[in-house]
Amino acid sequence: IEQDYLQMSQWAANYIVSKIKEANPTAEKPFVLGLPTGSTPIGTYQALIDHYKAGRISFQHVITFNMDEYIGLSADHPQSYHTFMWTNFFSHINIQSQNVNILNGMASDIAAECQRYEDKIKAVGGIDLFLGGIGADGHIAFNEPCSSLYSRTRDKELTMDTMIANSRFFNNDVNQVPKAALTVGVGTIMDAKEVLILVNGHNKARALNHAVEEGVNHKWTISMLQLHPKGIIVCDKAACDEL
Ligand code: GLP
Repeated sequence: IEQDYLQMSQWAANYIVSKIKEANPTAEKPFVLGLPTGSTPIGTYQALIDHYKAGRISFQHVITFNMDEYIGLSADHPQSYHTFMWTNFFSHINIQSQNVNILNGMASDIAAECQRYEDKIKAVGGIDLFLGGIGADGHIAFNEPCSSLYSRTRDKELTMDTMIANSRFFNNDVNQVPKAALTVGVGTIMDAKEVLILVNGHNKARALNHAVEEGVNHKWTISMLQLHPKGIIVCDKAACDEL
């Protein structure tokens, strides 16, 4: 538990830097990082960019896999998660573009795209560290309430709550928010060697309560983290209001 958003973000960035350094990645043995979008990780990305600019970390041998992408938005759409990642993180660090993996929301064969993603994660030896955030209803990536806790990468319809929450990025017009997304599954996230989840603000307090103080339940998909051998939640004080 950190005091506020800034300290939470710095804690997470410091942790990620320490894990990459400890792994001492090379071209033959890269570090594989899972990444989220949303407003929550922006402070962590900023802190990682600061570490990079200060010469404390290199992303030369880091491979990334993003959690999800909206179906029907092209990579260059202003609200696509592709655009989000390049704007908020990738353009500011020395990552190699061929090491960036994001699901293609325009894929004509969705099942094949999801299988390709799972295969690629396996081919690079699995994800070393998956960074994530959660929705107010406890969803992780786009694994909405009642998703299978063993799910793999697939398409998922978004709940009205999620569409309303995300409408702030679409001119506050819920009709402009895509109704479905491609997302890694809860099982895909659970396969990572480590999972680090960021939770901040009072509006996530109920979700955090269900994540750590209630039983594992598919209605709050983040609760599955309780079964991960190395699951870490870093949060601010406001998110702890219901603990
Ligand atoms: C979306 C993303 C999630 C993210 C959630 C919360 O649903 N798919 O990965 O955790 O939003 O977003 P925010 O951090 O903006 O509250």
